[in-house]
Amino acid sequence: MGNRENFGSRRAVIYAMAGSAIGLGNIWRFPYMAGEHGGAVFVISYIVATLLVSLPVFIAEVTIGRRARTSSYGAMRRLDPAHKVWRWVGLLSIFIPMFILCYYSVIGGWSLYYFFKACAFDFVGTSPDAAETVFGGFISSVWAPIGMHLVFLAACAWVVARGVKSGIERFSKLTIPALFVLIVLMMVYSLSLPGASQGLRYLWQPTASSLNVKTFVYAMGQSFFSLSLGMGAIVTYGSYVKKDENIVISSAGTAVFDLMFALLAGMAIMPAVFAAGIKPGAGPGLIFQGIPFIFSSLGANWPLLSSVIAILFFLAIVVAAMTSVISLIEVGVAFLGDRFGVDRRLGSLLIFLVCGAVGVVCSLSFGPLSGLTVVGKNIFDLFDWFASNVLLLAMAFIVVVFVGFVMKKEDVRDEITNGGRKRRNVRCFELVYFLIKWVAPICVLSIFVTNFIL
Ligand code: PHE
Repeated sequence: MGNRENFGSRRAVIYAMAGSAIGLGNIWRFPYMAGEHGGAVFVISYIVATLLVSLPVFIAEVTIGRRARTSSYGAMRRLDPAHKVWRWVGLLSIFIPMFILCYYSVIGGWSLYYFFKACAFDFVGTSPDAAETVFGGFISSVWAPIGMHLVFLAACAWVVARGVKSGIERFSKLTIPALFVLIVLMMVYSLSLPGASQGLRYLWQPTASSLNVKTFVYAMGQSFFSLSLGMGAIVTYGSYVKKDENIVISSAGTAVFDLMFALLAGMAIMPAVFAAGIKPGAGPGLIFQGIPFIFSSLGANWPLLSSVIAILFFLAIVVAAMTSVISLIEVGVAFLGDRFGVDRRLGSLLIFLVCGAVGVVCSLSFGPLSGLTVVGKNIFDLFDWFASNVLLLAMAFIVVVFVGFVMKKEDVRDEITNGGRKRRNVRCFELVYFLIKWVAPICVLSIFVTNFIL
């Protein structure tokens, strides 16, 4: 363990963490969640939750990872060997990403399908109604979405099996900035559409009617999901962070980057949604119905330009989703390897088979299995809801309680202030510690409990 690989520089740390954080969560999930949960109240709760709760949880996860210098399965046990309970928590941190992988890769498959559509110049000249019908027809069919989900997952598992992760990371260093530029361009264009201001108002002007506890739960769940918290990913990345790296600055950099990305995506999509007359609460399909409208209206004047942008945009989404999925698969493969000596290729294959099969059921829940609902949610929604509103909140709670109450304060101080060297974060330590020890757990617990009571 002494020679554990480290990230080379602060930029590399922020890049790697932002690479894991930025994905479908920002581009696909944030806009539709905001649309389903009342717009501005959700957006504001999401911003507050990110700064007040998720950022401290993020710092706590990096602290655990760097202190323990091992992946999430064994990290807490290494820091507190006396208690067996951490073994179960370690297992939970492996189970959660596998659980998320099952339905996340279904959306990866949708993105892949839209990438192919963009390559076939399919968006030029489609009306909003047609876009809705095409999307509805696609997800409710049986084979096309299942095929796309399996191809997408297989491609990611293949990359993990071959261990060519660094290649993909280099590639994603290119695509993430490209995605950023494309999102900004689309936002500018989308804001110029007739009726766009309604979309902006929806995102930024709170209405009293959407104030309720559920909005806060969903906003916090979204914030954890988007920052890859509660899934062992950031603990594992934390274990690669150099001893003299400033944890607070790297974490804050990642959180702000991720937050900005989501807000930009929201502002690119919501005005178009309103301009196209689509309901903001359209659910997981929101961006797949709204984005074609941006391209088709742009295509009315510049068909070639709009097709090229559409191809680049969906390619960038597919790659962003792939890098996230690769890091999810990697958690499972590393665990199977370390714990049971399973070789990478077999590990990737096993995960592909199990998560692929469960994902098929999630995919079918938009079609033949759509009648199968529990408390009004289909299987896909149930997976997503259980993961982000139950599992992630529970795990994040355990993480902050661990750092606040199980680890010695002096050890936490040592990590966060880099041993007090260069007087780093010495003054803000007490504030960060207070947020980790009291504010974050109390917020998570109270929101979680009120949600179940109400
Ligand atoms: N944070 C990613 C997103 O927003 C999802 C993810 C979670 C990726 C955990 C890796 C690990 O899409």
